[in-house]
Amino acid sequence: MEKAEAYIEAHKERFLEELLGILRIPSVSADPAYKQEVQRCAEAVRDRLIEAGADKVEICPTAGHPIVYGEKIIDPDLPTVLVYGHYDVQPPDPLELWASPPFEPVIKDGQIYARGSADDKGQFYMHVKALEVMLKNDGLACNAKFMIEGEEEVGSDNLALFVKENKDRLKADVVLISDTAMIANDVPSINTGLRGLSYLEVEVTGPNRDLHSGVYGGAVANPINVLCDLISSLHDKDRRITIPGFYDRVVELSDAERKALAEAPFDLEEFKRDLGIEEVLGEKGYSSDERSTIRPTLDVNGIWGGYIGEGAKTVLPSKAFAKISMRLVPDQKSAAISKLFKEHFERIAPPYVNVEVRPHHGGEAAVTPTDSVAYKAASLAMEETFGKAPIPTRGGGSIPIVALFEQELGLKTILFGFGLDSNAIHSPNEHFGVFNYIQGIRAIPRFYKHFAAVSNGKS
Ligand code: BES
Ligand code: MN
Ligand code: MN
Repeated sequence: MEKAEAYIEAHKERFLEELLGILRIPSVSADPAYKQEVQRCAEAVRDRLIEAGADKVEICPTAGHPIVYGEKIIDPDLPTVLVYGHYDVQPPDPLELWASPPFEPVIKDGQIYARGSADDKGQFYMHVKALEVMLKNDGLACNAKFMIEGEEEVGSDNLALFVKENKDRLKADVVLISDTAMIANDVPSINTGLRGLSYLEVEVTGPNRDLHSGVYGGAVANPINVLCDLISSLHDKDRRITIPGFYDRVVELSDAERKALAEAPFDLEEFKRDLGIEEVLGEKGYSSDERSTIRPTLDVNGIWGGYIGEGAKTVLPSKAFAKISMRLVPDQKSAAISKLFKEHFERIAPPYVNVEVRPHHGGEAAVTPTDSVAYKAASLAMEETFGKAPIPTRGGGSIPIVALFEQELGLKTILFGFGLDSNAIHSPNEHFGVFNYIQGIRAIPRFYKHFAAVSNGKS
């Protein structure tokens, strides 16, 4: 690995420049206005994969945004790593809260500031550069396949189809994904779980038109007031979710498992300080870390209705809306939970309003084993790179495609993430450490080396 280390050191600046080039393309998958930019980003990813030495690189069109595929098969008898990542990004708004424009990346105090720097351009690009590093130095220890999609942030619907239709092409021994965070730069960790998701929109309708809030107010139900009542009834005083059946399939962790997870350092005071809050809130009986990883949640992501412009307008609105997400844990099923929500919400709606519940995307939770050869390889690679063995932790976010890889391809995933929770993903001023980017590029070839060795029983 010494040759590889020297190569990385010598080419570091270019590795950064190339990433900045990718970050300059506003590949916002949610907004149709950016469709051409998403396509342009796919083309850039294709070109960079070819330059790095991948074969059979192609842009695979879908009904939505394209998937970029490439591979390097050096010996069919060697194990194969399937790298997954996403080149699409979240919308950058609110723009006025960015210190520098989201698609004009700058490096400040060792951090790369741009939308997508940590989620996930900076992280998937580590794999492209690691491929170059391996091919230019010690060679590949395993075969590699790359599948970089453009619709992760909008639910990966077309990727799910692509996976089902390309099972042969995607044959591999493990999936390797860098799209999660570690505990800290001096406390490496590996995510061993992701939460599932149910996302819905509700519409509450009262009177057939907006009304003068003086002429009618007090005599007619206000749908915004009603929506607020309905939403607050979804949690009880212990912050448990009141939807009947919601917890039925939740896998409770044993005391031993909870104790093991609690080994990971978590500083509650630092957590509060970082967020500027005096106190935390969550389900009774669980720690903050547990509440955000191994427990299911229900949150309003957006709420609107009535007059929200400048100044005041006296109006009793006809309609109120909210977007609601539920984070799920094993063995809750996204479709079943969405159905429970819809039935409950319709049942509790009072007779003076009409409610409509529309499901958006969803996905299943996933847990990855820590006793696999792949986990062992990942752990060794991290230990060599950081000088410390990584701590297994459960993550709170969702990557729905992970459960699908297991279901359709029979593959387990290694969540080889190098970000930090403080990277402000999905927020203004998203950033990714130059240190983290380079550590990732250093660790990935070590994963290949150990995965090949462990798979052969040589480590
Ligand atoms: N990379 C994130 C997921 C993530 C972040 C997992 C941090 C663990 C730690 C991913 O891009 C993401 O944002 N996923 C969405 C779900 C998707 C269906 C929109 C999410 O978790 O909200
Ligand atoms: Mn991501
Ligand atoms: Mn994301």
